[in-house]
Amino acid sequence: MRLFFALWPPRAAADALHAWATQVRRASGGRVTRPATIHLTLAFLGEVEETALPDLRNLRIEAEKLNLPIEQARYWAHNRIVWVGPKETPASLATLSKTLKEEKRPFAAHITLIRKARDPGPLPALPKIEWPVNEVMLVRSHLSSEGSSYEVLQRYPLG
Ligand code: 2AM
Repeated sequence: MRLFFALWPPRAAADALHAWATQVRRASGGRVTRPATIHLTLAFLGEVEETALPDLRNLRIEAEKLNLPIEQARYWAHNRIVWVGPKETPASLATLSKTLKEEKRPFAAHITLIRKARDPGPLPALPKIEWPVNEVMLVRSHLSSEGSSYEVLQRYPLG
């Protein structure tokens, strides 16, 4: 099973980000993330044996609630994505990410909004986004020719 831990925005935030990305796509081309699948990955676990699932489900996640600031938008040429995220990763999210994943690649909080994008040039101003973080999700990714679909396996409320 291909698993990751993630944060999901409220629907209004997802809709506003999707509308912004649709506007950017006119310049960048590429595939815009559907509102329902917009997320921030905290830790990508990769392929995990099904036998590991009960322990993952029972994890105690210790973190306070926070608001995720969506302050900047960027184009990453090396993987051809347009993403948005905080200017600086909130310390509590960095800590959380570190405890959830084995690989120690530094965590760069980002939300991918367009894939297979060309350089869009100057990006339009971001809308005001309210993204309260109340829970972490354990998500299974199903890959297909139409892209990934996601299945929430477990929710962990934050304190
Ligand atoms: P991305 O949006 O930058 O591609 C599910 O694939 C989620 O896990 C995506 O949000 C993806 O980030 C993230 N992810 C992190 N590391 C990954 C990896 N090595 N392979 C695939 N997805 C990864």
